[in-house]
Amino acid sequence: MPDQWAIVTGASSGIGAAIAEELAARRWSVVLIGRDEQALARQAAKLTPQGVRALTIAADLSTSEGLARVHARLAEAKLPVAALVNNAGFGLHAPFEATASADEARMIDLQLKAMLELTKCCLPGMRERKHGYVLNVASVYAYSPVPQQAVYAACKAFMLSFSRTLALELDGSGVSVTALCPGITQTNFRARAGMKEKRSAFGLSAAEVARIAVRGMLRGKLVVVPGWGNTLYVCCARWLPAGLLGRFTRWFNRRRGLTPHAGEKA
Ligand SMILES: NC(=O)c1ccc[n+]([C@@H]2O[C@H](COP(=O)([O-])OP(=O)(O)OC[C@H]3O[C@@H](n4cnc5c(N)ncnc54)[C@H](OP(=O)(O)O)[C@@H]3O)[C@@H](O)[C@H]2O)c1
Repeated sequence: MPDQWAIVTGASSGIGAAIAEELAARRWSVVLIGRDEQALARQAAKLTPQGVRALTIAADLSTSEGLARVHARLAEAKLPVAALVNNAGFGLHAPFEATASADEARMIDLQLKAMLELTKCCLPGMRERKHGYVLNVASVYAYSPVPQQAVYAACKAFMLSFSRTLALELDGSGVSVTALCPGITQTNFRARAGMKEKRSAFGLSAAEVARIAVRGMLRGKLVVVPGWGNTLYVCCARWLPAGLLGRFTRWFNRRRGLTPHAGEKA
């Protein structure tokens, strides 16, 4: 059994599940975290025949109790964690005035607070072993204003900025930080956020995104943008005024037929 462990949050579906599969294929054992216990168990059963170990922790990472449960299980298991993938997230798609403050707080707690806490928990061990990877799943929306997704886009911009600064602080420590910035990816993400689109065949598969993400992470790349369309979007963001890019994003999302919705109801 390999003794190289990775923690993947949001590993019960989508990009997180695909990243766990990609890591297991590379002989990493994994800690799978999410709320859906049965989905986590199914994912673990899919990975262990590859000769790796899979530990599941069912926890709501947007709550203090959920984070405490994860801390306790990790402390008990004493695993040599060499990679942390902060991936769990959900969408809210509606004008800012129409989204509930409680949902926004849950989004911030999940995407930012949990990321910060888990990273702080894993870094000492990585530093001591002079080896480790932190992969934060942001989005191309980290680069642009996104009408109807104000808090989501701001969270992703935070994740990108935090990753860049932490990478500098860890320079020379043997621990690298990578921000993954996917665009539209074929997962349950939009359906769970109640977003409806006219054309649903857009975007890369979760497996493609995961392959590119894990390769970039293991190479210690600071920012990974999967796919040429997303790379073009990020290049435009470097040159276009933010307002113009935001207007383009709004036009593009309308063309896709995305209709406003107040977001996932847990
Ligand atoms: N799909 C896209 O187009 C796209 C584009 C750019 C960025 N992203 C980012 O990619 C990441 C993964 O999204 P996805 O597309 O793979 O969507 P997904 O299939 O809906 O997966 C989201 C994952 O997050 C977990 N999660 C949600 N709320 C949680 C909570 N409170 N506590 C613990 N786990 C929670 C879910 O697990 P449970 O339901 O079991 O809790 C699930 O495993 C997100 O951060 C998203 O912002 C997605």
